[in-house]
Amino acid sequence: MERIVLIGYMGSGKSTIGYELSQILNIPFYDLDKYIEYRVGKSISQIFFDIGERGFREIEYACLHEIVGAGDYILSCGGGTPCFFDNMEYINKHAETIYLKCPIDVLCHRLKNEKFNRPLLKDLSIEEMESFITPQLKERELFYQKSKHMINISPMDNVKSTVNKVYNLLK
Ligand code: S3P
Repeated sequence: MERIVLIGYMGSGKSTIGYELSQILNIPFYDLDKYIEYRVGKSISQIFFDIGERGFREIEYACLHEIVGAGDYILSCGGGTPCFFDNMEYINKHAETIYLKCPIDVLCHRLKNEKFNRPLLKDLSIEEMESFITPQLKERELFYQKSKHMINISPMDNVKSTVNKVYNLLK
């Protein structure tokens, strides 16, 4: 059984790395946000707008349960997924969890250009983003660190080198 779940903050590369890895390992790939959008028929931004973060977390929980217990897969979670309900324990029970740990300056740099489809960040200025991300990452680390494995991503890493790191870990 090959069940791999990628965990990490927004911008840590979960979706890109997960997809690339799924091509190499020939395992189905799920991006939890994309799956939610497909199941609900609305974008993540629209879901947040319509029913708020709490409503989104309930849908996220339900969709997570639809994927995690069945078959082989690589799943990239949303940045908040491990931090709500008993999601982290549930994922750990069913899959190999890998935390993509990315330095905060790398995250901030990437997210500056990618904040618009992320409801938690979209209304923040660049300065506000940094003061939002720093404490939130600290809180979330407590959950992320429950992962079974951790990959340290350095500012020098690119997609290929990060995929290699994850691949070597799984070998
Ligand atoms: C969120 C991260 C997003 C998405 C939603 C909330 C978060 O996923 O699930 O906007 O709470 O960190 P990505 O980590 O793929 O951006």
